[in-house]
Amino acid sequence: MSTSGRVYSILVVDDDPNIRKLIKAHLSKYKSYEIKETANGEACLKQLREYIPDLILLDIQMPGIDGIEALKRIKEEYPKIPVVMMSGVGTIEKAVQSMKLGAYDFVEKPFNKDRITVTVQNALMNSSLQNEIDELRSELKQKYKFKNIIGQSGVMQEVFKSLDKVTDSNVTVLIQGESGTGKEVIARAIHYHSKRANKPFVAVNCSALPESLLESELFGHEKGAFTGATGRRIGKFEQANSGTVFLDEVGLMSPVTQAKVLRVIQEREFERVGGNELIKVDVRLISATNRNLEEAMKKGEFREDLYYRISVFPIKLPPLRERKEDIPSLAAFFLDKYSKEENKEVDSISPDALELLMAYHWPGNVRELENAIERAIVLATNGEITPKDLPPAVKSLGEKKLYESDNTLSSWIEKLEEEALKQALLECEGNISQTAKKLGIGRATIYRKAKKYGLPMVK
Ligand SMILES: Nc1ncnc2c1ncn2[C@@H]1O[C@H](COP(=O)(O)OP(=O)(O)OP(=O)(O)O)[C@@H](O)[C@H]1O
Ligand SMILES: [Mg+2]
Repeated sequence: MSTSGRVYSILVVDDDPNIRKLIKAHLSKYKSYEIKETANGEACLKQLREYIPDLILLDIQMPGIDGIEALKRIKEEYPKIPVVMMSGVGTIEKAVQSMKLGAYDFVEKPFNKDRITVTVQNALMNSSLQNEIDELRSELKQKYKFKNIIGQSGVMQEVFKSLDKVTDSNVTVLIQGESGTGKEVIARAIHYHSKRANKPFVAVNCSALPESLLESELFGHEKGAFTGATGRRIGKFEQANSGTVFLDEVGLMSPVTQAKVLRVIQEREFERVGGNELIKVDVRLISATNRNLEEAMKKGEFREDLYYRISVFPIKLPPLRERKEDIPSLAAFFLDKYSKEENKEVDSISPDALELLMAYHWPGNVRELENAIERAIVLATNGEITPKDLPPAVKSLGEKKLYESDNTLSSWIEKLEEEALKQALLECEGNISQTAKKLGIGRATIYRKAKKYGLPMVK
């Protein structure tokens, strides 16, 4: 094989030393192959713990763990190593069976040397192509992984990195952050990139329901469990079986519900309200809250044991004002999204409008920015968002303010004076006498003050 000059290691497994010798002698003629050998299935599996060959040539009939059994175990533990089976007289059927179990091909004894050469070459070529495809695919997956979640800032990049670590595990995740920082978006991203992606993601808002209803919402109820329970109801934990339960606003759960949720996490089982059948579930739990749970715990409003159970992997989402670098790309993302939705061609944000977006402190975080852009698109003219299209709170940042709360009265008066003088001078084209007349003060005063404020005048 002539690709790239690398050396491929091939492990030959056969109980017959003559066969091993024969193959070794033949394949060793190729400089790019390094041959190792071993006498049976057990020894082969043991070897694999020490090194991973690029290809295995595996005899079918061997004492102890035979070729078929060894193949099964190899495919289980090392699915990527290509295996070529070697079959003697009477084992053809097994050779065919081995193909179904994932062998790449088989060669028959007695060997035709050319056939071995070609089969080995093809198997190696095929597997390196496969590896290349896998790598490209995982790169692509990485690239588009969180494609609808914007965050170039260092803090968000850290969040994405930590997501990579948890998506494939079953640990409970607690997402904390102010309202509108994207807690639910992140919860969904974790689910849809996990092994549970094809199973349900069931969200429960713990603050939206009164205590009595929340319990039946989470665990379901039996017919007649309480007045109005006219039939059996399946709760969210049951609906989410094999998938993920998202407990939103988890900080607002009552002590009773907290105790029940703790039990589900610990025992993985519960009863429906009014029922006594134990229901077993396999769910992954992701919780979110904008409440400071550490504080709630100190106040005795949130159970400590539950806190530790739900926060095995905590994620803190920073408020938008602490990651302002994300504002331009978030704004562009929402611009693209809502201009399509509104079917209106608005494709840019003017520099002064962007400046205002950057200056604003966004108490409602990403959600507030999203709403601002959506609204601005409706108002925009000439395909561009300008300051006039922004919400009043944002727009007003750009309006000159004479009075700010930390101004002293004298500095306020000074500003007013400067403003009035500037305007009058402008109207009188810098003529001091005319300006003096207009403002009703002496020429000398105008002169002195214009100098003080650095305003242009004509003597
Ligand atoms: N990083 C982001 N990229 C793109 N969109 C985002 C991002 N973060 C949040 N959003 C959008 O902002 C809005 C609010 O996000 P989400 O509902 O996840 O916030 P939350 O933290 O759960 O808020 P609350 O505490 O009020 O429930 C959603 O429309 C979401 O799509
Ligand atoms: Mg939310």
